[in-house]
Amino acid sequence: MSYPFQIKTPEEHQVAMQKSTNDPEGFWAEVASSFLWRKRWDSVLDWNFNTPDIKWFAGGKLNITENCLDRHLGSLGNKPAIIWEPNDPEEHHRVITYRDLHHKVVQFANVLKNNNVKKGDRVCIYMGMVPELAVAVLACARIGAIHSVIFGGFSAQSIADRLQDAQAEFIVTCDGAYRGNKEIPLKSVIDDALVQCRFVKKVIVLTRTRIPVSMIKGRDLWWEDEIKKVETMGNPDCPAEIMDAEDPLFILYTSGSTGKPKGVVHSCGGYMVYTTYSFVNVFQYKPGDIHFCTADVGWITGHSYIVYGPLCAGATSLMFEGIPTWPDAGRFWDVVDKYKVNILYTAPTAIRSLMSYGLGPVNTHDLSSLKVLGSVGEPINEEAWQWLNENIGKGKCPVVDTWWQTETGGIMISNMAGITPSKPSYATLPLPGVQPVLVDDAGKEIEGNNVSGNLCIKFPWPSIIRTTYGDHERCRLNYFSTYPGYYFTGDGCYRDEAGNYRITGRVDDVLNVSGHRIGTAEVENAINMHAGVIESAVVGYPHDIKGQGIYAFVIYSSTHGDENLSRQDISQTVARIIGAIARPDKIQFVSNLPKTRSGKIMRRILRKIAEGEVENLGDTSTLLDPNVVEEIKNGKL
Ligand code: WT7
Repeated sequence: MSYPFQIKTPEEHQVAMQKSTNDPEGFWAEVASSFLWRKRWDSVLDWNFNTPDIKWFAGGKLNITENCLDRHLGSLGNKPAIIWEPNDPEEHHRVITYRDLHHKVVQFANVLKNNNVKKGDRVCIYMGMVPELAVAVLACARIGAIHSVIFGGFSAQSIADRLQDAQAEFIVTCDGAYRGNKEIPLKSVIDDALVQCRFVKKVIVLTRTRIPVSMIKGRDLWWEDEIKKVETMGNPDCPAEIMDAEDPLFILYTSGSTGKPKGVVHSCGGYMVYTTYSFVNVFQYKPGDIHFCTADVGWITGHSYIVYGPLCAGATSLMFEGIPTWPDAGRFWDVVDKYKVNILYTAPTAIRSLMSYGLGPVNTHDLSSLKVLGSVGEPINEEAWQWLNENIGKGKCPVVDTWWQTETGGIMISNMAGITPSKPSYATLPLPGVQPVLVDDAGKEIEGNNVSGNLCIKFPWPSIIRTTYGDHERCRLNYFSTYPGYYFTGDGCYRDEAGNYRITGRVDDVLNVSGHRIGTAEVENAINMHAGVIESAVVGYPHDIKGQGIYAFVIYSSTHGDENLSRQDISQTVARIIGAIARPDKIQFVSNLPKTRSGKIMRRILRKIAEGEVENLGDTSTLLDPNVVEEIKNGKL
């Protein structure tokens, strides 16, 4: 497989940058031409950021799975599409060739059809990191069903909210999942969620851990039994559903500044083109390379850079079920060594956690196969960047710091490995076709260099969010109304003298904990459900490993006894309502919160206190009762 759109030299990078700004439509039409379309598009781009209404490759017909699978069968049929490394190093790994994967996807697509799943239906996927997760995702895409993958760490309540929002009538899950020394009872969590979701018609359950599960007659089916049924039916084919370029491909829920996560919708054509283009160029993928992205498919990183981008590019994608620190902190390096991984794409939080174990677990492994290292999910601090560069890359692997979001579908700002220079803690330059701008709080563009502002994008790229599922107005309000005429990212950003971008973190009430997005309002809602809680305010604070930790200030009715038990109880409530990833790191009981006369909580002050900056709290004169600040300062954890 060759990539006509692969940028191979700094000069070609220059040319692509220029062409993509001077003639975006011509630029993307050329990139899109190397994909398999059942019918070519009528127009490359129609857009209006005010409504918003964005169409890429309108009139074009395709199926993304034909691009990920069918078109590779001739030349790559016997090449590995997915290499799967289990949680437990003692268990056998699996190698799934393009031919195998095609077969499995077609089979499971027929299972879905047999269970009456139709084009446009929403299918919720709640599974561990097993190859069948990729199979389920692709099988949905094969028949035009819209998948909504939910990360295996979310609680029953979170699942129920997402099922309701998407009106998903079908679920694919596992009996359980392995993560380190833990076994997560996925099916049982689904059962709890479904008490509230009577509209769910079918639950297909893959056997993974053999943890006992209860199956509901008529609703719950075993994956293995369903496969047997289609095997005996004769016709093993499942022609791909021909989709419009703008038909939705999937929904992925993500947190915002309100209490309710929103379903980000991506479309078939643009998402395919952009994820593949960015995959090949940022990582400088060469045929035969082993690409290891350590994310979970439950997040956008896994969608774009474990499944769709690599498979469209005919790459070998390594899928790892486990965690970096089990059975020991050498697990990643063990995997790199075992499969001679060439590209490692991971998160700063994982790096920082591994750094704390020293070089022992690193130096016992041969990492010489590595060519490119990637970082994603949060700002990478300089120390982690250097550690990765020196100890993992041995100074010879370009480190790409890739900035993007669930809503952008693919990498937006990043250096290109070996083509454009890196700069520690900078994502550096936009990809061709991406037009970032910094705006001030009044929405005015800030020109020039050595400036900071709110990061916006002023022109559409193919994998931009199309809508928030079931509520288009919410999409407009969230992303296109703060600074009219621009897509607003929610991030603050600095641009240096050379035009490099440095993301400084969220400017809204969204936290980034271990690279996971969590809304403060969501956590507050969960805390407030606890019977003893009167009111709460949640802010982020710098955390050595997680990047940001969750700090909760809670007004608590003292009638409930032991403070530590109450803290545990509140934390448990949050885990039950959202999931363990949202558990507060610190809970401080306070008698009051700093509010303005109009009753608004002054988070700025709480943030400063949580950050340990108690001396310089800024103007507190508008507070209803300035004394509460003293009390909170004194009680800081
Ligand atoms: C937010 C998006 C993109 C996939 C994983 C997270 C932060 C992401 C970087 C980076 C600094 C980063 C931003 C962004 N972020 N990558 N390289 N440098 N910050 O996706 O859950 O949609 O979160 O993650 O704040 O807005 P997400």
